[in-house]
Amino acid sequence: MKSGELFRVQGLGGAKTLSGSVAVSGSKNEALPALASAVLFGGPVTFRNIPRITDIRQLNSLLSDLGARVMMDDGGTITVDTSKLASAHVNESTARKFRASVILTGPLLSRMGEVRFAPPGGCLIGKRPIDVFLAGYEAMGATVRTDGEEFVITAPRGGLKGCDVIFRLPSVTATETLMMAAVLAHGIVRLVNVAMEPEIGALADFLNESGADIRGIGTPVLTIRGTDGTLLVSKKEHTAIPDRLEAGSFMILGALCADTLTVTDCDPEHLKVPIASLCACGVPVVVGKKRIVISGNGGIPNRSFAAANIRTHEYPGFPTDLQAPMTVLLSQVSGESIVEEMIFESRLGYAADLVRMGADIDVVHPHKAIVHGPSKLRGRELYSPDLRAGLAYIIAAIVAKGESVIHNIYHIDRGYERVEEKLKSIGVDIERVRG
Ligand code: EPU
Repeated sequence: MKSGELFRVQGLGGAKTLSGSVAVSGSKNEALPALASAVLFGGPVTFRNIPRITDIRQLNSLLSDLGARVMMDDGGTITVDTSKLASAHVNESTARKFRASVILTGPLLSRMGEVRFAPPGGCLIGKRPIDVFLAGYEAMGATVRTDGEEFVITAPRGGLKGCDVIFRLPSVTATETLMMAAVLAHGIVRLVNVAMEPEIGALADFLNESGADIRGIGTPVLTIRGTDGTLLVSKKEHTAIPDRLEAGSFMILGALCADTLTVTDCDPEHLKVPIASLCACGVPVVVGKKRIVISGNGGIPNRSFAAANIRTHEYPGFPTDLQAPMTVLLSQVSGESIVEEMIFESRLGYAADLVRMGADIDVVHPHKAIVHGPSKLRGRELYSPDLRAGLAYIIAAIVAKGESVIHNIYHIDRGYERVEEKLKSIGVDIERVRG
């Protein structure tokens, strides 16, 4: 399906001519729950380093609809004041547009005693159920019912109660959402088998600085002593952590298309496994404190990277969100690599388009692909299926010979800030055009 703007990319045909440095923006996946957590505060909270992307604008719109005052400047600073919060009904049409809208349900339920919301839609990476969220609310004493197409969750009369919530699987947003719900609860909530992504730790640290009591950060068990309904107080501004997924994507682009590329304003601590995977392929990665350099990558004649297997896994494993960009890289190395997607049920759909570009990839199972490299990629007309595959298409288009046209770039705009400006600054020939 064609829609809106598109990217035109002139490929390098395998040359490694990109160079310079590229700065990473604030993390989308940390900024979203952090902004949602404003509902737990009695007054204004200021957030910095927030990426200017569609998902953030959608969340701001949901907050405004609930009665929050949202003030945003052009430099990535947003102040949210929920002191006059008036509603606990999450706007249905906006919520259906992005999965992360579900993050608001935890803070709203614990503050307002009730929340009404439409189930966030599934998407092209597979079904996105919310059973872990609902089981958590029920364990805290809430009742769950449906009214038409909406869920209505009601807290017990005295507020959400202390309990153990056992996650059947470690969902990232369910961990964030239930942790936020527990912050205002009565008693101690233990969340067992939770996700450990750095975005969760950053959110928990911020909430603790503001009066919450969350322990076990960075482990699979979080223990939260509720405030008995007392709202949090902002003591200082919160700065979103760097986007490890954007940083990882630039690293992969650098490995493929640059002699030397410096990725700045990132946290290499959050990228240990992707860095190890690139090193296993033979990519020359130099890690600094807040920067990662792909160095002298084109200077060695006939450098040919080696195949490596990847298997996506919850943090600290290889991130599912870097699986598609990494597969582009594996299509360019010598030998056979196995890619296993363990988190989402259909996150290999994009491989068919890489094959149309010339890659040799067999998807042998919905969760497994075998990549034979190296292959020559040619520019094609492509339709971005989701955010992360969309960026993988841009990377493949830069590697390829000839021009590619990438449609449906609204997916890419959901999560990457000014991506074409950043790419142009390191030498990519990319234009945003009206479709
Ligand atoms: N799952 C359930 N039931 C639930 C919740 C999750 O079955 O109630 C399943 C999912 O269907 C999936 C698995 O659990 O198979 C893991 O999903 P998870 O809930 O961890 O994903 P998420 O929280 O919806 C976040 C990121 C995703 C990222 C995943 C995995 C945000 C806003 N989103 O999603 O990011 O891929 O964790 O790391 O943090 C993206 O940024 O493009 C993106 C998709």
